[in-house]
Amino acid sequence: MIAADTGIRLATVADAAGIAAMSRQLIEHGLGWSWREGRVRRAIADRRTNVAVVGGPRSLAAFGIMSYGERHAHLLLLAVRREQQRRGIGSALLLWLEQVAVLAGVERVVVEARLANDAARCFYSEHGYHERAIERGMYGGIEAGIALEKWLRPALA
Ligand SMILES: CC(C)(COP(=O)(O)OP(=O)(O)OC[C@H]1O[C@@H](n2cnc3c(N)ncnc32)[C@H](O)[C@@H]1OP(=O)(O)O)[C@@H](O)C(=O)NCCC(=O)NCCS
Repeated sequence: MIAADTGIRLATVADAAGIAAMSRQLIEHGLGWSWREGRVRRAIADRRTNVAVVGGPRSLAAFGIMSYGERHAHLLLLAVRREQQRRGIGSALLLWLEQVAVLAGVERVVVEARLANDAARCFYSEHGYHERAIERGMYGGIEAGIALEKWLRPALA
């Protein structure tokens, strides 16, 4: 599936190594590397997870991974290559993944970020996410994290 105006497409296994490398460099730096190629491949194959990318397998500009549950979706990872940041690519990817959640009837999207990640906190705030909890050892017991969420529609009773 390709979104013609944004260049966003669903990832294939050919993208897995590039996504894993970007996760290590841009998201998991200073922590253990948990999103290695095998885990990314499993996410790509998982029917309840969308792995969306911008760019070709050898020239990925960005990727986002969201898993969809009955009532909430979880944005697991989102990253834009440094040289390509602040051009709206992260926003386009997030909106694409959120639209799938809306179509799936999901109530809310949840995501976590490092407490010290000011860029991510500003980005999510700009997209209507509110900060709901701070957890001191969220990342490997060594770094504080913040849980954010965005309601897409009112909760069912
Ligand atoms: C967070 C991230 C995905 C944003 O992607 P992006 O493509 O640069 O974001 P956009 O260009 O769509 O930015 C949209 C808005 O978010 C806010 N924003 C984005 N980056 C920001 C920054 N570094 N500082 C402050 N606000 C920022 C701004 O309001 C921006 O609008 P503006 O550029 O008109 O001011 C990107 O910085 C990134 O990949 N960071 C490293 C990985 C990461 O932290 N991922 C999130 C946690 S999993």
